[in-house]
Amino acid sequence: MSIHLTDSFKPLAKTLRKHFDSVQTDAHHPARFQWDWWHLPGRYTHLRTPAELYFEPGLHDHLVTTITQHARQEYGCSAISPIWLSNYVEGCEQRLHADRPHGPWAFVFSLTADFRKFQGGETILMREEILRFWENPAEEGQAFEENEILVKIPSSFGRLLVFDPRIPHGVSRVSGTVNPLEGRLVLHGWFTTPQPFVDGALSPRKVETVLQGLDREMETLSAIASSGTVAYRISIQPDGSVSKIKKLRSSIQDSKPLDRLINAYFKTAKFPKAAKPSELTLPLTIG
Ligand SMILES: [Fe+2]
Repeated sequence: MSIHLTDSFKPLAKTLRKHFDSVQTDAHHPARFQWDWWHLPGRYTHLRTPAELYFEPGLHDHLVTTITQHARQEYGCSAISPIWLSNYVEGCEQRLHADRPHGPWAFVFSLTADFRKFQGGETILMREEILRFWENPAEEGQAFEENEILVKIPSSFGRLLVFDPRIPHGVSRVSGTVNPLEGRLVLHGWFTTPQPFVDGALSPRKVETVLQGLDREMETLSAIASSGTVAYRISIQPDGSVSKIKKLRSSIQDSKPLDRLINAYFKTAKFPKAAKPSELTLPLTIG
């Protein structure tokens, strides 16, 4: 599944939520007037504002830095889109849709309070077996209800959800409260710029020759049936040899032929010498 959950960012969520609570309980705070009732009939209905306009600059910078670091570290994406803050109260929802071409990964960072005054509000994603339905249709008599078609992920406080936004997704309709303090509150956006980057002693220019060799090698790769983005992290010793090849996140259904090619190529690749080790992060997009 191209769906990943982490609860590592709760301290940041607490700080952001504290700011939200202080704004929304202050009848005259300027930030509370940033909200737009974003209503596109049959598609989206919720309150929305650019996070940059809502949070103090220092706090917003901390948010962007933290999420960007995660995008770099785990997904090989060196940037993120501007972040939205959205609030879902009675009647709010996102109908099923796909985001293309916003970026190879979408994220949803929940600031929703753990006390629940509403029903619904889950992120819903079409199950991958449904997307491949005709390759493997359900057996006759097999139960086939909404839960067999959709994955539902509750908006738990502090949870970061990352998924392949090509998967049809949405937000189930919220009911039970009209109070923004009790609604589904999330920060969301996309990881972008899946381009190679280097941390450590080697400059990006010094790895170019090795990457050009990889481009030639990739031309020999027989067609991969599925499309998507996969990233690898290549650890490079000061003598230019490769000591480790780590596969990061992938949204390619079967990336084994590519994994084999990457491993074979970098095991024997020789980078220029440098004073200290380096790490090359290499995202590749297929299709
Ligand atoms: Fe979306």
